[in-house]
Amino acid sequence: MSNGVFVTATDTGVGKTLISASLAWKLSQHDDKICVMKPFATSDKVFSKKFYSKDLYLLSKSINLTEDQSYLNPYFYKLPASPYMASKILKAKPPSVTEALKKFSYLKRKYNFIIVEGIGGVMVPINQKYNIVDFIKLTRLSIIIVATPMIGTINHTLLTIQKCKEHNIPIKGIIFNKMPEKPNIVMRSTPSFIEQLTKIPVLGIIPHYKYLRFTANTFKNISDKIKYTT
Ligand SMILES: Nc1ncnc2c1ncn2[C@@H]1O[C@H](COP(=O)(O)OP(=O)(O)O)[C@@H](O)[C@H]1O
Ligand SMILES: [Mg+2]
Repeated sequence: MSNGVFVTATDTGVGKTLISASLAWKLSQHDDKICVMKPFATSDKVFSKKFYSKDLYLLSKSINLTEDQSYLNPYFYKLPASPYMASKILKAKPPSVTEALKKFSYLKRKYNFIIVEGIGGVMVPINQKYNIVDFIKLTRLSIIIVATPMIGTINHTLLTIQKCKEHNIPIKGIIFNKMPEKPNIVMRSTPSFIEQLTKIPVLGIIPHYKYLRFTANTFKNISDKIKYTT
């Protein structure tokens, strides 16, 4: 058993937070020392005093985690953009990868398992020198890629896989999220097509829910559809 996983995606809005929360919830059913982390977050809104990042709020709530956001989300910028761009526009200091890694190491030591949610996709710039993929490499975690079955996904998924392979990052598999209730033949075929092309396993196919709420029921439903072993 490894002691963590990094959840990345082909894009923003694909379902990283939902999938991360569902996996964390599942693990927390058998282990009370599960942690979640969102090292870099940006948004047009501050969610609350305790959780600047709404993603962090949703992740923490899924497992009732009581850890300070200064560890769980060391970098938050109030501008929906990549962390580096947000920091430049806001004339703030860009994130330090060393600092973020220190927080990550602290959490990894303290907990039995950590689920880290990325931001956007793997080539999102953190600062002048580092993109998300470089941060993933430094954590030494393996990754799960969240994708959708929509048109355009093959290109984004293959690019993500290629980039991670270049960095020798172990890929656990791909989760296809937001499969429509009545998918067309292209959408239906996309997961197995990508699996066949890349030999990376599809860990699950999650439907597009009409009414989605971040509740234990939802997390159970989703995690039951995912073949993931730590
Ligand atoms: N399977 C799904 N069915 C319906 N809505 C979804 C599903 N997955 C995600 N969403 C919604 O899509 C949006 C983006 O999901 P989120 O998990 O926040 O993506 P990311 O973390 O990759 O930006 C959210 O509003 C979320 O509630
Ligand atoms: Mg998110």
